Amino acid sequence: MSLHDSHPSVLQRNDPPPLIRAYRGEQPTRTPVWFMRQAGRSLPEYRELRVGTDMLDACLNPELASEITLQPVRRHGVDAGIFFSDIVIPVRLSGVDVRIVAGRGPVLENPVRTAADVAALPPLEPEALAPIRDAVALTVAQLGSTPLIGFAGAPYTLASYLVEGGPSKEQLKTRALMHSDAETWSALLTWCAEITGAFLAAQIEAGASAGQLFDSWAGSLSLSDYTRHVAPFSARALEPVRELGVPLVHFGVGTGELLAAMRDVGVDTVGVDWRLPLDEAVKRLGPDVSVQGNIDPALLRAPWPVLEAHIVDVLERGRAARAHVLNLGHGVPPDTDPTVLTRIVEFVHAHG
Ligand code: CP3
Repeated sequence: MSLHDSHPSVLQRNDPPPLIRAYRGEQPTRTPVWFMRQAGRSLPEYRELRVGTDMLDACLNPELASEITLQPVRRHGVDAGIFFSDIVIPVRLSGVDVRIVAGRGPVLENPVRTAADVAALPPLEPEALAPIRDAVALTVAQLGSTPLIGFAGAPYTLASYLVEGGPSKEQLKTRALMHSDAETWSALLTWCAEITGAFLAAQIEAGASAGQLFDSWAGSLSLSDYTRHVAPFSARALEPVRELGVPLVHFGVGTGELLAAMRDVGVDTVGVDWRLPLDEAVKRLGPDVSVQGNIDPALLRAPWPVLEAHIVDVLERGRAARAHVLNLGHGVPPDTDPTVLTRIVEFVHAHG
């Protein structure tokens, strides 16, 4: 597969936007900035649009998903849109009964725990991804030169929701399965890799200029478990995407010990959470990848001078990398004052 002639990445080949330059390791004219979970509950215009519509239904309504994606781009002037969807959308589109419970997260009616449960997981039919392709096409048509980032959940994080049946701090059942039944584990992570890879590829083919793989809960794993039981499946998820040639980002929470292994899955940029200073992350990652991060989300509520000093520190440490994209160390908390996010963008564009 290759990208069609009117794809933004093809049209912008000779003059890529700052975000894409940074992901590729070129020095952009300004430090690009966007926020994980920039679309969503921190915005009153989002809360208003979502009244009466279930979360996953909103993701599957192309007009609504597109409008929600555009809201933070208009309001904050960030350097990218991130497609409004959820990591469990490909699970839902395969026909598995999954819902999102507000304040909790994805919940499954029937958790997937045995060899028979895994064997019964239905395939994701390519036609089922039509609402995703339509929403992306609608969005890039309105974004102009601002790139859209597509995303997907990595197989481990996705599998943890399937096995636990909901959000879980330490994913004990998931990690027990990993060590108890190699065949079932491999079958489960292969299924996750296939559906999540297809979900990300659909977004990129339809117009996204970069892709981010979220392995949010990989920080629960030891380096050896990550390398042996998880990384090969993350690489597999990226296979159908790699041939499209757009830059790829890999992010997880609490993954300081895993950063180099996450790089080795084959990405251009590694996202770093707030626990590890960026210059230390660069020491662990070496010179061949860009970094993204890592404002502590807690500091969004601190007085501006405190937050400003933190941003300056993040920017300075980010200079150790071949290129740096400013972001938070995890998603925007729902109760964030959105005017603070706009102020960060203005500050970074002026000083970064
Ligand atoms: O700007 C964006 O980043 C928008 C798109 C986005 C959403 N989910 C929308 C969403 C993205 C990139 C995600 C990814 C996602 N979803 C991840 C990986 C990123 C991360 O945070 O580590 C994970 C682990 C999920 C699973 C999930 N979905 C959780 C944990 C929750 C929160 C539940 C809650 O209410 O606190 C969701 C729901 C969700 N996904 C919301 C949004 C805007 C909130 C639901 C709502 O608005 O009603």
